[in-house]
Amino acid sequence: MKITFLGHASLLIEIDGINIVVDPFITGNEKAKHIDINSLKADYILVTHAHQDHVLDAEKIAKNTGAKIVSNFEIVNHYNALGIEGHPMNHGGSWQFDFGKLSMTNAIHTSSFADGSYGGSPAGFILETAKKTIYIAGDTALTMDMKLIPLQCKLDLAILPIGDNFTMGIDTAIHASDFIECNKILGYHFDTFGYIEINHKDAIAKFKAKNKNLILLNIGESLEV
Ligand code: NI
Ligand code: MN
Repeated sequence: MKITFLGHASLLIEIDGINIVVDPFITGNEKAKHIDINSLKADYILVTHAHQDHVLDAEKIAKNTGAKIVSNFEIVNHYNALGIEGHPMNHGGSWQFDFGKLSMTNAIHTSSFADGSYGGSPAGFILETAKKTIYIAGDTALTMDMKLIPLQCKLDLAILPIGDNFTMGIDTAIHASDFIECNKILGYHFDTFGYIEINHKDAIAKFKAKNKNLILLNIGESLEV
């Protein structure tokens, strides 16, 4: 499994030739100008919640590629109305896709579209393939529900928001890492705008002090899991 950081909370995950884009917010990100959404390949677009900084480019990428939107019922309905196919899910549910098993997890946050319309409840995802299992937390607070994840699976990597203000910050993400029993963390949802700027060195050192590995990728950089 290859994970490419596309900036903010946007990811490209490649599993045996299947391309999964997560929460695409690229054209609105000043720091991601070098990423061309028209050259992105996508078979699926996973959407954790309806906020603009997670869905801005979803419609364009779906229309370019024919990718299916996988998200909560409300968000999938929203894209259905725009002529885009989707797979609706909800919290606690799992589905076996061709790339692996996807489960929708709880997240504590809000979810509305840019026009204020209802975007269902925010979520995260657990993605289990034959070889590796990852957790994509979405925008969330630290929550006791994270303790349920190790009951379901053993994580090889967790992707956690660390920018604070709108989501967990570094200290709470370290607690989350304990709750989910995973010491290999890819940080996201940081630095995009003023509210969520972090000191990279301090963040990595704080995780290291707890024997945890915080990975921070440059935009466009990849990680093999
Ligand atoms: Ni959000
Ligand atoms: Mn966000």
